[in-house]
Amino acid sequence: MYQLLLHTFADAEAICQAAAREFTLRALEGITGRGRFHVALSGGSTPKRLYELLAGPPFRQQIDWNCVHLFWGDERCVPPTDPQSNYHMTHEAMLRFLPLPAENVHRLQAERAERDAAARDYQEQIAHAFGVSANGEPPVFDLILLGLGPDGHTASLFPETEALAEQHRWVVPNYVPKFNAYRLTLTVPILNQARQVLFLVAGPDKAGPLLQVFTGPRNPAHLPAQLIRPVNGQLTWFVDRAAVQQLTAGLGE
Ligand code: 6PG
Repeated sequence: MYQLLLHTFADAEAICQAAAREFTLRALEGITGRGRFHVALSGGSTPKRLYELLAGPPFRQQIDWNCVHLFWGDERCVPPTDPQSNYHMTHEAMLRFLPLPAENVHRLQAERAERDAAARDYQEQIAHAFGVSANGEPPVFDLILLGLGPDGHTASLFPETEALAEQHRWVVPNYVPKFNAYRLTLTVPILNQARQVLFLVAGPDKAGPLLQVFTGPRNPAHLPAQLIRPVNGQLTWFVDRAAVQQLTAGLGE
């Protein structure tokens, strides 16, 4: 069973300020308790400001980055120098400013032509970083950041796509018809093992999907974000007023 928390903030900036505090708290907790902090980052545009905040005072100095292992929840099948790359966005916003050992940055090599091999290699890389077998149960990330698309997707788990049904592999290629392109993505089994999943959702275009995810009929093929239910973790939503307006109206607030 998971604990569900929904926090509403004024705007995207307030979401990212709160997310930087939460990230730092979880990092201190993981490093103090387990000597390491394993986190999977989300892509898109919302978390960019979070990454910028983490790269500067006061957050940068509060975290022992030698103990932090960064992963990505998904990646576009483009080179890491491509503006469309989630790694590129993270590098520009944060990585280039942080004293992270290179071996702690686990980039998802989605640019490789052999997409399935790249996914399998990433699964091996995750397993090695956690000190577990790549053939066993998915490891437990301390924190996984996710976003919500206007179509209800999260990570690169898009509506009506094959990756939604993956029950064993931790990382898979996923063809996304709307883009006529492949992505690589973490799958539901590993996402739902996390100690904490933190969604960052801002803007009026997310109001409809957020309402549907929370109050609509259960229809994960159409609303993949409904699949995110941590087995033993905490599911936290940081949303802004614009994104939560339909949900609060529906609840009579
Ligand atoms: C990606 C992300 C994706 C993103 C949502 C929300 O690769 O695009 O992983 O799942 O989180 O599309 O994106 P925004 O934050 O830009 O709205």
